[in-house]
Amino acid sequence: MCGIVAYIGPKDATAFLLEGLQRLEYRGYDSAGVAVAAKNGLKVCKVKGRVADLAAAVPARFKGTTGIGHTRWATHGVPSDANAHPHTDVSERIAVVHNGIIENADQLRALLAADGVVFTSETDTEVLAHLVAAHSGEGVELEDAVRAALGQIVGTYGIAVLDARQPDRIVVARNGSPIVLGLGEKEMFVASDVAALVRYTRQVVHLEDGELATVRADGFRTFTEDARTVTRQPSTVDWEVASYDTAGYQHYLLKEIHEQPAAVERTLSGRLDERFATAHLGGLNLDARELREIRRVKILGCGSAYYAGEMGAQLIEELARIPAHSEPASEFRYRNPVIEADTLYVAVSQSGETYDTLAAVQEIKRKGGRVLGVVNTVGSAIARECDGGIYLHAGPEISVASTKAFTSTVIAFALLALHFGRIHDLSPADGRRIVAGLKALPDHIREILKQEEQIAELAAAYADNAGMMFIGRTRGYPVAREGAQKLKEISYVHAEAYPASELKHGPLALISPELPTVALVPDDELLDKNLTTLGEIKARSGRILAIAHRTPEAKLIDHCLVVPKSEPELDPLLLNIPLQLLAYYAALALGRDVDKPRNLAKSVTVE
Ligand code: F6R
Repeated sequence: MCGIVAYIGPKDATAFLLEGLQRLEYRGYDSAGVAVAAKNGLKVCKVKGRVADLAAAVPARFKGTTGIGHTRWATHGVPSDANAHPHTDVSERIAVVHNGIIENADQLRALLAADGVVFTSETDTEVLAHLVAAHSGEGVELEDAVRAALGQIVGTYGIAVLDARQPDRIVVARNGSPIVLGLGEKEMFVASDVAALVRYTRQVVHLEDGELATVRADGFRTFTEDARTVTRQPSTVDWEVASYDTAGYQHYLLKEIHEQPAAVERTLSGRLDERFATAHLGGLNLDARELREIRRVKILGCGSAYYAGEMGAQLIEELARIPAHSEPASEFRYRNPVIEADTLYVAVSQSGETYDTLAAVQEIKRKGGRVLGVVNTVGSAIARECDGGIYLHAGPEISVASTKAFTSTVIAFALLALHFGRIHDLSPADGRRIVAGLKALPDHIREILKQEEQIAELAAAYADNAGMMFIGRTRGYPVAREGAQKLKEISYVHAEAYPASELKHGPLALISPELPTVALVPDDELLDKNLTTLGEIKARSGRILAIAHRTPEAKLIDHCLVVPKSEPELDPLLLNIPLQLLAYYAALALGRDVDKPRNLAKSVTVE
């Protein structure tokens, strides 16, 4: 969703601001803007549309060495030039960019309006610009004015504030929405996401919630809302700069699908123990005795993270025989959940920023529960809120639709389930079987990716329907759900996922030649049942694309994609890979904006 960038140093700020904003485009946005402190005051330029539109609108004489920029994803007010950030106070001295939501904006707006402030936008953020201005009388330091303004605010924010009278600094603050400082040589950068910074510096400082920083060209000072100085040590971003490019692929999504063998290798790296047929997970912060006391596992995530959690729950139940269940974090947080001492809660998030998942973690912790994070983004809000966890090391995922992070999440759960299983009753022989199965996965994925051309042809043929049904049984059901999710989010083709066993209890009525079915047909103990379901669909003239370990009888299907067989517990992960390519090529055939599907954002940082 929204993105923030800022620069202070010897160079012209605008070039960095525009490039930084372009790096944040993947997050989803509808308008963009920049402000710089120039010799004769603030210069602001903002437009509805893309960063390219903003770059075209910035005048040649838009110069300044201190500046802030923003990409906005509309919450309060429609996408428009006026509602785009930065927002300024009446005298156009203070400029603010803001990610998050100010919950008491309406009340503050009324108070400010009563004092004669005339608003120029419908946004909650504009309130903040006027409040900072109201607190910055003669001789008041910008950081003190910002602290005072934030004291009046209820809500979440990551902000960067510029004052034309104090161009030697930018003040930033964080509460529930990330702010990262990037340390350069006599210059400093700020962003809401390291993706905007990595080309300039790998040395970063992540602000904590409730913290502010004064950023100057030669350094920074971090402090709390009550003005206590806090010391923050820089850390090094370890993701490669090249991971932020498309590397010759037509889209990030295709690149990320192809990166999966390497991503899986990284998720597994150093974590498999062949001698004891188990997994080592250094970040759990739970010893074997504590793990044995766990009676249940509850997994929480949103969207694809929730579906990966469903696969994870099955792995944990199968390998460790501990009851496990996945639930959308967005529902869990609102239903006053019962938190049990002997339940292990696991929060799943690629970005580590999803607000609903973060709120679920906070609710569990408030009630004394223990939460592990399965997170891709190191140092993200969710990772830091959890008591321990597993980093995916999948590398940055830029395309809005999750692919490699999904796969790496399932791998992380397989490792957790193996570790749990070997503490409980999983035999060494079964442990070895899973270890060997995991090690073979990257090559199995490579084999599936070789079928890309065939999948592309099938996708183009099937994309032409108003909808598609996805079915799978037990282990195959989360695969069906994720397959349907991927197809609908990037191709806008309606897709429904059902347990194959449930078809005859209702949705069979939908089956017709116009509603093809993608059927997951692994060669497992339920193969016969799945073949019976295929027969029932065929009897209603339904078209079937099977994803299987061997091609079913010709009369039962129209097309089949054969995937290599792994261990039964790990098969779902492989069955999912062709569905990613199917969604990608369906979207391509329909001419969709594959990496930035309409209405969606990469990190959903609002409720
Ligand atoms: C689907 C997708 C979303 C995310 C969801 C959670 O392809 O990308 O459903 O999985 O918004 O995001 P994270 O994992 O960042 O918490």
